Amino acid sequence: MIKSKLCDITGIKYPIIQAGMGPFPTTNLCIASANAGVLGILSSSGIASDANQPEIYGVFCRSGGADPEKDSKETVLRKIFQKVLDGTKESQGIFGVNVMVSAEMREPAELIIGTMLKVREEDPEMKKRFKVLITSAGDPLPWSDVIKKTDLVWMHVMPSVKAALRCKKAGVDVIIASGHEGGFHTSWEPVHSMVLLPAVIDAVADENTLVVGTGGFCDGKTLAAALVMGAAGAQMGTRFLATEESDFPPLWKQAVVDTPDRGTLVARGFVGPARWIKNPRSQEHAKNTLEKSPGVYLGIPDDYSTIDMSLIDYENESINAVYKGDKEKAMMAAGESAQRVTDMPKVHDLVQRIMKETEEILRAVPRLLD
Ligand SMILES: Cc1cc2nc3c(=O)[nH]c(=O)nc-3n(C[C@H](O)[C@H](O)[C@H](O)COP(=O)(O)O)c2cc1C
Repeated sequence: MIKSKLCDITGIKYPIIQAGMGPFPTTNLCIASANAGVLGILSSSGIASDANQPEIYGVFCRSGGADPEKDSKETVLRKIFQKVLDGTKESQGIFGVNVMVSAEMREPAELIIGTMLKVREEDPEMKKRFKVLITSAGDPLPWSDVIKKTDLVWMHVMPSVKAALRCKKAGVDVIIASGHEGGFHTSWEPVHSMVLLPAVIDAVADENTLVVGTGGFCDGKTLAAALVMGAAGAQMGTRFLATEESDFPPLWKQAVVDTPDRGTLVARGFVGPARWIKNPRSQEHAKNTLEKSPGVYLGIPDDYSTIDMSLIDYENESINAVYKGDKEKAMMAAGESAQRVTDMPKVHDLVQRIMKETEEILRAVPRLLD
């Protein structure tokens, strides 16, 4: 049985975090993951997609049994949180929420975190099991005052040693080092997990600060490598996207399973560079990105307020096409690890398989030391 400090501080059985993958819902995936003994994470940025991506907003609301027309945004969030609590009652699974805290997401972030804190105060069961907040895509420091007053386990996703030091200053409990292999949002200045994770561990890991790897982790080999490096676990997005219970549309899940060797590319996403499964539509988007937002390939961030909006319109149209089942216009985000994902198992079976493989690998490690 493998345990790490990540298990100790959260109460999960296995040192794996199922990643949040907004603006798309992960409500049913979160239930299945928490029930399987890993940390189930809800995506939340879908709550802010009503104006630009109303179809996604509808899918997001309905994942929790909410009505996109009639329910207030707070009610939508409450329904989603309650659905996960009810769905994990028997297993007493642990879950949390991923909240993007970039400047343009400040208002929804306040609503999501505020609602989370309210429901936890109203219901002791919620307080006991809805206990992890993963912030991402922004500066953790301005959130420190609010979050450090709570008993939440605070995790933050970031892509550099510099940002890890800032997390430490903010008092983040678990720093998630996000390598460039990862699905969808990636950083402007790319560093992959094999370099980033040990560098972040060296810089910040100690008794009170855990480090977790994300980006490219998808099986026992990669989880074992993270643990051997000194990480407390791994967060996996692409791997969990292609599971039976995942909320993603069939076209998207199957595209991950079918992704061949070298099957992803990076092009503009709405918050910066984003990793997409390679197809004619995403290759066209990459060409447009090179022309209209070359900073994506030069490591120079461009300002959301000045970016050519045709790139964002193209992205929205392509994502909506996935939900409509329109293969020609569809563009689907996923990490490099898609090429290593070749099936669509049930979450429970996947977790058991990953843990068995991890354990076999770790048991064999001492044999290298003769
Ligand atoms: C479709 C998709 C959507 C994502 N959306 C978010 C998001 O809203 N917020 C966030 O912090 N990360 C997001 N991510 C990144 C994941 O949380 C995770 O860090 C990443 O998938 C890890 O890399 P992997 O895909 O190689 O496992 C997304 C990833 C995918 C594949």
